[in-house]
Amino acid sequence: MNEMTPPKTERAAALKGLGSARKRVEDARFTQGKGNYVDDLKMPGMLFGDFVRSPYAHARIKSINADKAKAIPGVVAVLTADDLRPLNLHWMPTLAGDKQMVLADGKVLFQGQEVAFVVAEDRYVAADAVELVEVDYEELPVVVDPFKAQASDAPVLREDLEGNMEGAHGPRRHHNHIFTWEQGDKDATEAVVGSADVVAEEMVYYHRTHPCPLETCGCVASMDKVNGKLTVWGTFQAPHAVRTVASLISGIAEHNIRIISPDIGGGFGNKVGVYPGYICSIVASIVTGVPVKWVEDRMENLMATAFARDYWMQGKIAATKDGRITGLWCHVTADHGAFDACADPTKFPAGFFNICTGSYDIPTAYLAVDGVYTNKAPGGVAYRCSFRVTEAAYFIERMIEILALKLDMDPAELRAKNFIRKEQFPYQSALGWEYDSGDYQTAWDKALKAVDYEGLRREQAERVDAFKRGETRKLIGIGLTHFTEIVGAGPVKNCDILGLGMFDSCEIRIHPTGSAIARLGTISQGQGHATTFAQILASEIGIPADDITVEEGDTDTAPYGLGTYGSRSTPVAGAATAMAGRKIRAKAQMIAAYLLEVHDDDVEWDVDRFVVKGAPQRFKTMKEIAFASYNQAIPGVEPGLEAVSYYDPPNMTYPFGAYVCVMEVDVDTGEADIRKFYALDDCGTRINPMIIEGQVHGGLTEALAIAMGQEIAYDELGNVKTGTLMDFFVPTSWETPYYTTDHTVTPSPHHPIGAKGVGESPNVGGVPAFSNAVHDAFRTFGLTHTHMPHDHWRIWKIAHDLGL
Ligand code: CDP
Repeated sequence: MNEMTPPKTERAAALKGLGSARKRVEDARFTQGKGNYVDDLKMPGMLFGDFVRSPYAHARIKSINADKAKAIPGVVAVLTADDLRPLNLHWMPTLAGDKQMVLADGKVLFQGQEVAFVVAEDRYVAADAVELVEVDYEELPVVVDPFKAQASDAPVLREDLEGNMEGAHGPRRHHNHIFTWEQGDKDATEAVVGSADVVAEEMVYYHRTHPCPLETCGCVASMDKVNGKLTVWGTFQAPHAVRTVASLISGIAEHNIRIISPDIGGGFGNKVGVYPGYICSIVASIVTGVPVKWVEDRMENLMATAFARDYWMQGKIAATKDGRITGLWCHVTADHGAFDACADPTKFPAGFFNICTGSYDIPTAYLAVDGVYTNKAPGGVAYRCSFRVTEAAYFIERMIEILALKLDMDPAELRAKNFIRKEQFPYQSALGWEYDSGDYQTAWDKALKAVDYEGLRREQAERVDAFKRGETRKLIGIGLTHFTEIVGAGPVKNCDILGLGMFDSCEIRIHPTGSAIARLGTISQGQGHATTFAQILASEIGIPADDITVEEGDTDTAPYGLGTYGSRSTPVAGAATAMAGRKIRAKAQMIAAYLLEVHDDDVEWDVDRFVVKGAPQRFKTMKEIAFASYNQAIPGVEPGLEAVSYYDPPNMTYPFGAYVCVMEVDVDTGEADIRKFYALDDCGTRINPMIIEGQVHGGLTEALAIAMGQEIAYDELGNVKTGTLMDFFVPTSWETPYYTTDHTVTPSPHHPIGAKGVGESPNVGGVPAFSNAVHDAFRTFGLTHTHMPHDHWRIWKIAHDLGL
């Protein structure tokens, strides 16, 4: 150091690295309306596609007549399955090993299914022409109930699979059955449950809902016939995977396909899969030789693109009289709709549902999941969660509450009694996971103290007394949750999507003047990656975050990656970023040592420079090192300063949290007023506390929506009853309560910077907290369990049925 060298803390703060509440760099364009979304793309000669969709949930297609549609000026083509058949593109593979019709092939299996694709010079002309395509349907019996779908006389939904009793995940035992997936020790668990002091049993239903991103799905496909290159701009959460799949199913060489995800207006799992709109736009562009745009409207998004949840979870939880849990048994009936298009790693047809033992040291557990076809839209995507983790957390957090009722024990005490203790980590769960780190009791104690739990219970009891005296019609519910999440798929040995191992990547180039560009295999949809990944690098390589551009989403420039969903970006791509930074630093060390004329081992890292050990006045800053790497011949060292890392995580990360929701419920109107919501999250090392807080606020608001009203509901004919935003609940600032956020920090021992994911935690933990609050309000009046969503009518109905 010399007199001019600012102190360490000052230099570190100037980097805006790990732990800094750096403002989101993305916001400059988003808040000024300068974002660039798919529907903003305008290209010369561009055509527009629109779908003819089925009004029926199950019907045979007797004929399609597009003559009147084709006669409208401006209509270029009307594609049906017969046009796609010669290209073998009338069906496409799903992420779950099933296949799905691109355009209805002989029959339709859900309302809103794509039947024909109209291509026109103008979006409005395309929509008008859709109305004129005449489809002759013969209605067939509809099954929307997954239990009825398994009856011996239930109609055969997937005629293409008839007689095929071997599915992608083992034997099928019925024509509407997809798979059975078992985990854990069945005999031991049944023995424990059969002989336990206390067993609580319940059917816990997590209803069908939808990620409903503000921007719907869409793409622009452009086939450049001169150069043989296909470029597709689209709302893709996993652009490289889309490129590989597009190459495999179209036969176009992968280097001739460029996938670009521009700005994306929220994904939440909805934009992971491949939809018929993408295939039809690509085919239409190949046929016409001009770009073709397809952007779905809100109703299409809600009715036809990937749904989430629809899990019927039958559970039994066994315990000793004093509340020590001894076993957990669960059978899930999973309604997958017409095609199994769940976005799960191949080995996990029910995703990571086997995290359902939660935060608790449960010695014995068994789980079986049966996937079933019904006449509903396909999907089963991870709506702000890692592959069925939300279902798992809801299941165990409801079962704990139900067990507490049965034991007549305080649910906070029951949880604490059964937590996996700090010293048990790394912890091997009965259903096969190794939890990396956790300190649940500390988080729990902090949460209960922060809300004055005992005071709340006293107030609740006083309110019950006042209610019984007729002095009030409002009850208080205290909703507790302690959730454990599993995020960061990989490892490659366990997790793949369509055979592609789930690693991720980062490539860094340092420019001669000491600024940098980092490219990643992930893609932000609002999470602020351009802000936070630059912060990781700033701390690793000593270049200010403000001098680092982060670029994602263009397969021609970004290294191969598996994309962003399931809070995997920080655990996997964030780790790749740190590792690539370390490669840069290792080379920088050699350059610094050369410049300082000392051995490599005689220099040490100091925030933004290498200094000679014992001689702090002798140093080279990263800026100087970067310049030297381009303008000096350094013996044994290649010019330039670049690095790439492909990171295969050794394990997943296990963030956790303690949430408390305090609610006042009006028994006469069914209104629920959220008085307090306290959310403590532990996501290990925190990169940007402000972004984490934003993630928690957003996730909790989605959790509020799901728990309190949001659902995709069907009538018995398979009509979607909630296909518009008039019926499908998306909270506004009016319904959104004030959230108090808090944290503890338990770093992941295997992640290079100790970070775990956080994006989905508030959704995973929030839903049971809201739901438990509703249940808790009626606890003393005999309510054991009722199904979500807890809209006003359903809450009123609870009170009515209890005679209140
Ligand atoms: O994969 P996705 O981006 O949806 O989720 P994530 O990895 O949990 O990250 C969401 C946002 O929170 C990103 O901008 C992360 O870098 C940031 N984050 C953070 O600042 N600190 C953490 N420990 C985890 C995430």
